[in-house]
Amino acid sequence: MRLGPRTVRQIDSPIGTAYALLDQRAGDRELLDLAQAVPRYPAADPVIEHIVATARDAHGGDYVEIAGLARLREAFAAELRQAYRGQVHEDQVVITAGCNQAFCLVVSALAEPGDEVVLALPYYFNHDMWLRLNGIVPTYLEPGPDLVPTAEAVESVITPRTRAIVLITPGNPSGATIGPAGITAFAEVARRHGIALILDETYRSFRDTDEPAHPLFTDPDWSRTLVSLHSFSKDLAIPGYRVGAIVAAPELNREVMKLLDCVAICAPRIGQEAAWAGLVTAHEWRRARARDIADKRRWFTAAMADRPGGFELLSCGGFFGWVRHPFAGRATDDVVRELVVAHDTLVIPGTAFLPDDRGAVRVSLSNVDRAALTDFAGRLREAGAGAEAGIGAGQ
Ligand SMILES: Cc1ncc(COP(=O)(O)O)c(C=O)c1O
Repeated sequence: MRLGPRTVRQIDSPIGTAYALLDQRAGDRELLDLAQAVPRYPAADPVIEHIVATARDAHGGDYVEIAGLARLREAFAAELRQAYRGQVHEDQVVITAGCNQAFCLVVSALAEPGDEVVLALPYYFNHDMWLRLNGIVPTYLEPGPDLVPTAEAVESVITPRTRAIVLITPGNPSGATIGPAGITAFAEVARRHGIALILDETYRSFRDTDEPAHPLFTDPDWSRTLVSLHSFSKDLAIPGYRVGAIVAAPELNREVMKLLDCVAICAPRIGQEAAWAGLVTAHEWRRARARDIADKRRWFTAAMADRPGGFELLSCGGFFGWVRHPFAGRATDDVVRELVVAHDTLVIPGTAFLPDDRGAVRVSLSNVDRAALTDFAGRLREAGAGAEAGIGAGQ
């Protein structure tokens, strides 16, 4: 049997690679796991009760229509209308098996091998991987100094082969959040070039404001340009139920459904039921969880304020902090390995999110409590002691 070279050339999941490092741990100190971004609490009680009832229902295991449960699509469209004070119709919503699948289906419906898609740096590794797996060329948009990408800079990376611009806000891995005016400016550029603006809004509920993340849905013509992608994984603490959504023009959704039919027939019903129950019953619960994450961002920012061990917090938002390590000139993968082996601390190297090494790591705040965040700063201090003394530091 011969394997397809395009797939063989791709990297393995960086999350799996990071957790494999744990085998090299020498000490027996408690592990601080700031690697994967997953909620560490169970779903809301009414969601769990609805899942149990669905499992007992004679039809609870049936397929649903390809686009997803009608009542979930309606409930989600209603939530978006309210959250964005805009216009979203259930015909514009397709439920997918998570936001990753949403991205893959949309890109496959928009682009052919040889086409280009713009990713803002640092990118979410699965976006880059999916493009490359399909022979689509990722082109990279450098962010500004605050790690926020700008529409002015994107013009120079758009070519006649460009099919879409992809933005994640709040960002994974940087946490950087693009403001409403910035997002609007990107939509204008995309519209002018006749390409899609794909917004991955996985972390929209984990911002420091309840104001709409952007005004694009108030434009009756939004679906000519915007493709808005969503995840219920973090919002409802159901990552393993695999449920997300595409919000886009019915013409694009029709193409997406051809792909969805082939890969999954429909998103898992049990996940869709959980998402529906979450949308209609867990509003206050969701707000409380978002406040918990906001607390973690504040504690983390405070713990990093004096640059422990020379580690510098460059940006923080959503579930993440993006931190520059002090070992200039040393491979970040090596620094991350040492953090695991010698300091029992797991983060993801920034190289998983970039085409090159920029001396940064991603810290996920969702998995740990306040004490662990303080402990983390202490371990960075310990790890950086050598760097502050000039050991391992480059120019
Ligand atoms: C930016 C971004 N998009 C998509 C996903 C995947 O979400 P889902 O679990 O809904 O597939 C994640 C999860 O970490 C993410 O960070």
